[in-house]
Amino acid sequence: MSRWWREAALYQIYPRSFQDSDGDGIGDLEGIRRRLDHIAELGVGAVWLSPIFRSPMADFGYDVSDYRNIDPLFGDMAAFDRLLQEVHARGLKLLLDFVPNHSSDQHPWFQESRSSRENPRRDWYIWRDPAPDGSPPNNWTSNFGGSAWAWDEPTGQYYYHAFLAEQPDLNWRNPEVRAAMHDVLRFWLDKGVDGFRVDVIWHLIKDAQFRDNPPNPAYAPGRPDIDRYLQVHSADQPEVHNVIAELRAVIESYPDRLLIGEIYLPIERLMAYYGHDNRGVHLPFNFQLIQCTWRADVLGKLIDEYEAALPEGGWPNWVLSNHDQPRIAARVGDAQARIAAMLLLTLRGTPTLYYGDEIGIYDIDMSEETVLDPAAINEPGVSFNRDRSRSPMQWTKQEFAGFSNVKTWLPLTDDWKQRNAAVQGEEPASMLNLYRALLRLRCVERDLLAGAYRRISSDNPVLIYQRGQTIGVVLNLSSENVPLVLPTEWRNVSVLLSARKVKPLPHMPTDLSGGEGLILRIADGAE
Ligand code: NOJ
Ligand code: MG
Repeated sequence: MSRWWREAALYQIYPRSFQDSDGDGIGDLEGIRRRLDHIAELGVGAVWLSPIFRSPMADFGYDVSDYRNIDPLFGDMAAFDRLLQEVHARGLKLLLDFVPNHSSDQHPWFQESRSSRENPRRDWYIWRDPAPDGSPPNNWTSNFGGSAWAWDEPTGQYYYHAFLAEQPDLNWRNPEVRAAMHDVLRFWLDKGVDGFRVDVIWHLIKDAQFRDNPPNPAYAPGRPDIDRYLQVHSADQPEVHNVIAELRAVIESYPDRLLIGEIYLPIERLMAYYGHDNRGVHLPFNFQLIQCTWRADVLGKLIDEYEAALPEGGWPNWVLSNHDQPRIAARVGDAQARIAAMLLLTLRGTPTLYYGDEIGIYDIDMSEETVLDPAAINEPGVSFNRDRSRSPMQWTKQEFAGFSNVKTWLPLTDDWKQRNAAVQGEEPASMLNLYRALLRLRCVERDLLAGAYRRISSDNPVLIYQRGQTIGVVLNLSSENVPLVLPTEWRNVSVLLSARKVKPLPHMPTDLSGGEGLILRIADGAE
């Protein structure tokens, strides 16, 4: 059995923002195809596309109205087939975003479901009678603010939506829904896609009795509505693991496909998603690096905890940014974003990169009036405006950064004339060349791919760890110079890569400058 995804780095593309080819200011599939050189040169092994399916775009594609067609904004099926074929021709893999928890309210399934209580598809979604006083059936809250229940006047019931009212939740307890969704997976697997990232997979099953969630004692005003209650009954139910095992079985009936789950849960609960006997998802996304404080001691501890919690046979993975979160450069700054890159690409496990992070794109400024993200519109000033981390990729210093030939759907960063792939490609020590060097090193150093992880020390501000017997990593998480103190058991050490210089160093430095990170070859060391 091939385990390509243990070695490949994954690269997330937000399709609206990668490359426009038809002059509407919005990225599309043909645009992605034209930029495959960049991806291949970077050195990642697989591309994951955020949703490209037909959608009214109430949540920018995470509201699917036809799971088997491409939205015209992104192109058509011929464009998809061509992209898939060219991705494969370059030896890369293509992953799609599967959004099974909810459809669009415009999906024919929901149109039928809402048409009458007797409709055969009524039970494909989650319908409940009102409470005796007419209010919603329970206190469950939408992730995008307000009650998670929408009133349907004509049929006199509420339907459940964990996100927007335009995103009704499907009823995964219904075997017909499961079968229909398995067919969707097979449709794309038959075309040859290499796997899926599954949207909010821990949400698929809800409490059968629809009990109220308990209040969250830590809730403070000014926090998003979803934080008012602990999501004890509305998600992460034990039965979800059977549903996932079925998805996995569909995946396993094709060779070498990958199943990733999007899961925001604490480490212990996250680990359950590897499934009984590892028959859950191959990779439950690990967002620890997105949520932590950027400090050596904090990182040292969380990596240890994560490594220790992994089930036997469970393969680790690490993520720095995605389309729902502030970008890494916005969180830690330009200098530390390099350290973050070095960390991401030297930890044990599959790394996921977010497009644009390889040139250090930071979050764009957005005024309140121009916000597009429905979550930020619903809870202004409370939830992170996700537009800010979804800005167009910056390719060149030509107009519109080479992304489009018209005004881009979201603004570029202020410094796009310098911060773009073409300019950085010419600068030997750029962020882009650092990413390329790191990805290249991962391919040639077996211990970076497969060697055990062992923390050496994490006394602020320096994190030191070893991979296998031959690789050492030293990261300065501060902007201060510090003396470089290596463990005495590391002998005959040389520098394979400096994060600041983006090359090997001829001699071991005595100091570690601020924002410096080193990958070391240990020629002679204890395990
Ligand atoms: C998680 C996705 O990443 C996010 O962008 C989306 O809004 C929600 N799921 C709902 O599908
Ligand atoms: Mg376009």
